[in-house]
Amino acid sequence: MAKSTFFICLNLSLLFSLVTATYYSSLTPTLLGFREEKFTHLHFFFHDVVTGPKPSMVFVAEPNGKAKDALPFGTVVAMDDPLTVGPDHDSKLVGKAQGIYTSISQEEMGLMMVMTMAFTDGEFNGSTISVLGRNMIMSEPVREMAIVGGTGAFRFARGYAQAKFYSVDFTKGDAIVEYDVFVNHY
Ligand SMILES: *[C@@H]1O[C@H](CO)[C@@H](O)[C@H](O)[C@H]1NC(C)=O
Repeated sequence: MAKSTFFICLNLSLLFSLVTATYYSSLTPTLLGFREEKFTHLHFFFHDVVTGPKPSMVFVAEPNGKAKDALPFGTVVAMDDPLTVGPDHDSKLVGKAQGIYTSISQEEMGLMMVMTMAFTDGEFNGSTISVLGRNMIMSEPVREMAIVGGTGAFRFARGYAQAKFYSVDFTKGDAIVEYDVFVNHY
């Protein structure tokens, strides 16, 4: 009796799995090696080089042909900006900020940052964090942006980045920005 019930159950579950073929299953995070969540502080300097022989950004869209003057609303810039351990451009390279920023305000100079910070040094070499956020460079001394994800050591990343000018030339556009990133990851 018990044996036949077992077989009926087995057959039913087999039938059920055949009928309800799915593309997902539940998993324990530890099975993939995600055990202890860590909290990391990253500190580095971001260099947006506009002038000179080797700019790190390029204008993609220049509304009214005026982007170079003051980043008017609608300007789109692609960047491949170095991230260094110190404020000096020649200090040790720890990664690159690669992405775009768009001028998103009609009232003041404000940017929307969409970028991947790809690290190339130390423990986080090969890992990335994805940053998405509003960057009101004129009105806010410290801008906060969201860390929306990451790869490698930063899988499941979430947190925030705080950015403040270390130095900026509003006429030329060259800027060195100090970043403090606080991130939860595994
Ligand atoms: C970072 O990783 C790459 C690829 O594994 C390697 O070639 C490079 O030497 C590493 N850089 C540092 C500074 O460890």
